[in-house]
Amino acid sequence: MSENATLSVSRRKFEPLPEWVGPSTRLVHGARRPDFNAGSVVPPIYQTSTFHWPSARSEATGHGDAYLYTRTLNPTAEEPVELVRQLEGAEAARLFASGMGAISAAVLSLLRSQEELVALRTLYGGTTDLISELLPRYGVRVRQVDDSEAAEPEAVLREGTRLAILESPTNPTLRVHDIARWAEAADRVGAVLLVDNTFATPINQNPIALGADLVVHSATKYLGGHSDLLGGVLLGSRDLLNRIDAKTYLGATPDPFAAFLLTRGLRTLALRVARHNENARRVAEAARGHPSLAAVHYPGWANPAEEEIAKKQMRGRGGVVSLSFKGGSEAADRFLSHLRFVHIASSLGGVESLVSVPRETSHRHLSDEELAARNIDPGLVRISFGIEDPEDLVRDVAEALDSVG
Ligand SMILES: Cc1ncc(COP(=O)(O)O)c(C=O)c1O
Repeated sequence: MSENATLSVSRRKFEPLPEWVGPSTRLVHGARRPDFNAGSVVPPIYQTSTFHWPSARSEATGHGDAYLYTRTLNPTAEEPVELVRQLEGAEAARLFASGMGAISAAVLSLLRSQEELVALRTLYGGTTDLISELLPRYGVRVRQVDDSEAAEPEAVLREGTRLAILESPTNPTLRVHDIARWAEAADRVGAVLLVDNTFATPINQNPIALGADLVVHSATKYLGGHSDLLGGVLLGSRDLLNRIDAKTYLGATPDPFAAFLLTRGLRTLALRVARHNENARRVAEAARGHPSLAAVHYPGWANPAEEEIAKKQMRGRGGVVSLSFKGGSEAADRFLSHLRFVHIASSLGGVESLVSVPRETSHRHLSDEELAARNIDPGLVRISFGIEDPEDLVRDVAEALDSVG
């Protein structure tokens, strides 16, 4: 390149939106910046691993303001993460190649040998595997607590706890935990509180406003929303995220195309989540009390205290419902084989309804005792309701339930 050439892409700021805009407007108009090349309404995908430098000398080129290499930063990856940052009300955010990429970067960066991690026993299976199998090899002390213990965070978090990990609602039994109370208890002992907000989505719940230090999303789920990408987002203060710089050397950077798909999915997040919320609630209410069911798991339904917490911290209860069959795995299998619109697959948060058996998917690495400790019985199925018409889903589930007898 000639000496006077400008960098091919320089880091332009996003056009700011007024504070008062609602989430749907923010999702449609947020994180946009002018495309000076062709004026395209939808920003181009910078499908490149690297960027031209006009000079090898960083002082001469102002590299601090430029894109250098996609593992570190790519313009296409900045848009979706900025949208989620605005929705979650976080100071800073980073995009990862998957939810597990975000979670592992956070725990590996923040914990050292001999420090203590406290985590809910009912975390997503991948997170449980990470903290119970990998971390102890590096000398991290891991303490897992049951849902009942988690109702008293002041007793659970103590001096020396470095990091606490919470999910609410939990996967797959949809228990609800008091995020503000956990945040206060973590603060008191100087621990960092990380909340996995994947199930709730930023439309239904904002843990940072409740006092959490870090929020993580598997963007693979509701944020992307179409079951066609993998991604993760980590959010928090600028200071804390600067300490979690492991992403660049752990390598969990998203491909630009996945980042493009994520922006596209995010534009409709608020609309989709409203329908997911409605569908899950209508089916949960219709299924409640069915003679073939031992329990319907839905956020806030475990006990009156959790209902109060859910009312306080959630604007909607999310799109997931779990059903526990009295007749165990045989009854569950009969139910699954009668579903017409709910397909068997191990993910959630997409436009299509999906059902999985947690013992066979997200929690398959756990022993029978560990599964029992988490209330994951053989007849438990987890359904992620999509955006189909509510009447069709209610009918589909009702007919499948009746087929169980
Ligand atoms: C609650 C929760 N957190 C994290 C993850 C991991 O995300 P990913 O599959 O994008 O790595 C999942 C995946 O199912 C999840 O359900």
